[in-house]
Amino acid sequence: MKALITSGGRGTRLRPLTHTQNKHLIPIANKPIIHYAIEYCAEAGIKEIGIVYNADSTAIPDALGDGAQFGVKLTFIPQEAPLGLAHVVKISQDFIGDDSFVFYLGDNMVVGGLKRFIDEFEKNQSNCHLTLARVKDPQRFGVPEIVGQRIVRIEEKPQKPKSDYAVAGIYIYDSSIFEAVNNIKPSARGELEISDAHQYLLDHGYKITYSEITGWWKDTGKPYDLLEANRLVLDNLQEKNEGQVDENSLVTGKVVLEKGAKIINSIVRGPAIIGKNTVIDNSYIGPFTSIYDNCLIQNSEVEFSILLERCKLIDVTIRVEHSLLGNEVEIVKTQGRPATNRFLIGDQSRIELL
Ligand code: DAU
Repeated sequence: MKALITSGGRGTRLRPLTHTQNKHLIPIANKPIIHYAIEYCAEAGIKEIGIVYNADSTAIPDALGDGAQFGVKLTFIPQEAPLGLAHVVKISQDFIGDDSFVFYLGDNMVVGGLKRFIDEFEKNQSNCHLTLARVKDPQRFGVPEIVGQRIVRIEEKPQKPKSDYAVAGIYIYDSSIFEAVNNIKPSARGELEISDAHQYLLDHGYKITYSEITGWWKDTGKPYDLLEANRLVLDNLQEKNEGQVDENSLVTGKVVLEKGAKIINSIVRGPAIIGKNTVIDNSYIGPFTSIYDNCLIQNSEVEFSILLERCKLIDVTIRVEHSLLGNEVEIVKTQGRPATNRFLIGDQSRIELL
């Protein structure tokens, strides 16, 4: 079995973070989102993985290399434009050949791995095995209509969903999916929809089975999904201390301090991760916080947040909470007169004031 992982698309819902980086490289618990996808595939015993990326940027191949660090072989497949998930499958036919494969959306995260889904696919001799998760907002997803134990219809982002299930971004196929993706037409938004390919399989008598994801699953499409995914990953973290904690500091709960991290006269209450060479000085870091490498938090408080590389929070008198800070963001106390709030903010940033 092979795997195909997506890393293209435009990430528009994650702006401004995606103005300067591919969304699949944004870290969750200080590890790029797409690493989780590759690791899940590797854990399931898959050795050959195709990564579909936006042809206009080599950021993904540059960041991932040949796959040796994950114990797999990566093959990069350029997509000329985000023409839909069924288009992703279509352009990967040469790479997949006659093998069965896991199609994994690189912005999805799931606990518990993929092996159980592959086992179901094989046991049932299915043409297509889907994973379903109960959600509050099925309108955002592909939604199945289920009669008895059988999926009878699948609609993409329906206004009136026929169930409260989302089709999650982990699919297992045999080669009949290529007949489907080669026969469907683009949708009203101009994309070859994966849900239409699934409907094609249903209409042509192919066998679709499914598993319900009972642990957690997250599509990290929107900013607050990232915070939630971060919370869930941090909850399962093994604590580790490769940094330094001075005698005036208190570090409690599951906390990872990466190499060179320094905690000075501060409180860190896990689960939290503090990146390489990050300094926490006279500050409070609360639960569900990931602070990436080379940041400085001084005389400030942060909780339930993600901070990317080289951020600075200095003398911030309000607690930063429920926040996502991109690379090199600085929040500092005003120096000099006039003592006003001053903003230097890039496109599509968002500030919520008290
Ligand atoms: O997350 C599950 C949902 O994923 C499913 O329920 C939907 O049926 C499915 O269409 C998909 O919906 P999204 O709107 O979340 O898809 P999105 O455009 O965010 O793309 C998902 C992944 O595929 C992401 O890694 C970006 C990548 N992608 C997307 C497109 C459209 C590509 O690599 N190329 C593309 O052409």
